[in-house]
Amino acid sequence: MSTIDVRAAVFVAPNQPLEFRDLSIPAEPGANEVLVRLAASGVCHSDLHALDGEWDTPVPIVLGHEGAGEVVAIGSEVSELEIGDHVILSWTPSCQKCEFCVSGRPVLCQLANETAYQHVFFDGKPRLSDGDESVKSFLAVGSFGDHAMVPASAAIRIRKDAPLAQAALVGCAVTTGIGAVTNTAQVEPGSTVLVVGCGGVGLNVVQGARLAGAKQIIVADVSEEKLELGRRFGATHTVNSREVDLIETVRELTGGRGVDYAFEAIGLPFTIEACYEAIRRGGTAVVVGQVADGVKISIDPFVMSDQEKRLIGSNYGSSRQSIDFPKIIDLYMEGKVDLDSMVTDRIPLDGVNDAFARMRAGQGIRTVIEY
Ligand SMILES: NC(=O)c1ccc[n+]([C@@H]2O[C@H](COP(=O)([O-])OP(=O)(O)OC[C@H]3O[C@@H](n4cnc5c(N)ncnc54)[C@H](O)[C@@H]3O)[C@@H](O)[C@H]2O)c1
Ligand SMILES: [Zn+2]
Ligand SMILES: [Zn+2]
Repeated sequence: MSTIDVRAAVFVAPNQPLEFRDLSIPAEPGANEVLVRLAASGVCHSDLHALDGEWDTPVPIVLGHEGAGEVVAIGSEVSELEIGDHVILSWTPSCQKCEFCVSGRPVLCQLANETAYQHVFFDGKPRLSDGDESVKSFLAVGSFGDHAMVPASAAIRIRKDAPLAQAALVGCAVTTGIGAVTNTAQVEPGSTVLVVGCGGVGLNVVQGARLAGAKQIIVADVSEEKLELGRRFGATHTVNSREVDLIETVRELTGGRGVDYAFEAIGLPFTIEACYEAIRRGGTAVVVGQVADGVKISIDPFVMSDQEKRLIGSNYGSSRQSIDFPKIIDLYMEGKVDLDSMVTDRIPLDGVNDAFARMRAGQGIRTVIEY
């Protein structure tokens, strides 16, 4: 079997820098797969959860799941893509057959849960190798490598005039944030919204709330730099939750009532609990941030029934990637969604460990690796 070389950043053990290695991938995709030459990959906090050992992740594995590039080879049964297509990679490939896929909820795909979420392909196997050793691809994407094999349903074609560095971010943060508002919570115009955490995901929740016509968008973070960015993306009020009491401030800003919707975009138990507390009677709190393995939250079930408060989760912005990715790209090209300001650093692959250091320090929004 002929192979091609893949220069990749490999995760080998928690809390150790990623190692740069030359891996191999089959040159011929499987029947329903495509080979993509990556142009760009964002660095998301979910990669950092793995790197910091907060999520049990098998090694060796190529991290990265927010990528875009060009199709360079297609499998024999792939009809919807052509060589040369520009694509954004999806980290929930859909089998297009299970009850979730058929009912329009591909982010819940049964097969993806059993395979991609275990970082292997639909046949249960990885595609990369390092000599005799097989190497997994994070969420069956592995965008911290200059090529990726993906199931055809995980490569979503977009228009060719869109810049691929910005498009890469649509592969995770942008769709997750905007979709949490528009697909999961379905925020109505005139709503009041709280967003806790103004990172790559949270700022896109803010953009989503602006697109949905929210009249008040309160953002909370512990960094003044992030709060300032929150304003740029559409926040009407900012709260430094290290300096003032978040719940009290939200009550003051909403006439004592609480917000209609609160979105947690960090992944910490106390901020999820705070979102639940910050919503009005009948309001909805949405968990977008993802916690470390084993973390639990505590809420009062009496309040839940008595006040009809809703606590819901959002995975990948409840997106249908083949619809949402091109739609978000169009909104960007029309100037209605800001992706340019999201890209705060552009680096070659070998700068990826520094990108994690910046993320830990809360600096910048998204670092984009350009291949
Ligand atoms: N649900 C999904 O489908 C999905 C998809 C992608 C990412 N995520 C998760 O979303 C979360 C955010 O990801 P990201 O890439 O935006 O991360 P990020 O590191 O870019 O942003 C996190 C933000 O939280 C702020 N913050 C940290 N501690 C805080 C505190 N105690 N109070 C207030 N603000 C605080 C930081 O200053 C930063 O602005 C992560 O947990 C990630 O795994 C979820
Ligand atoms: Zn992500
Ligand atoms: Zn499915």
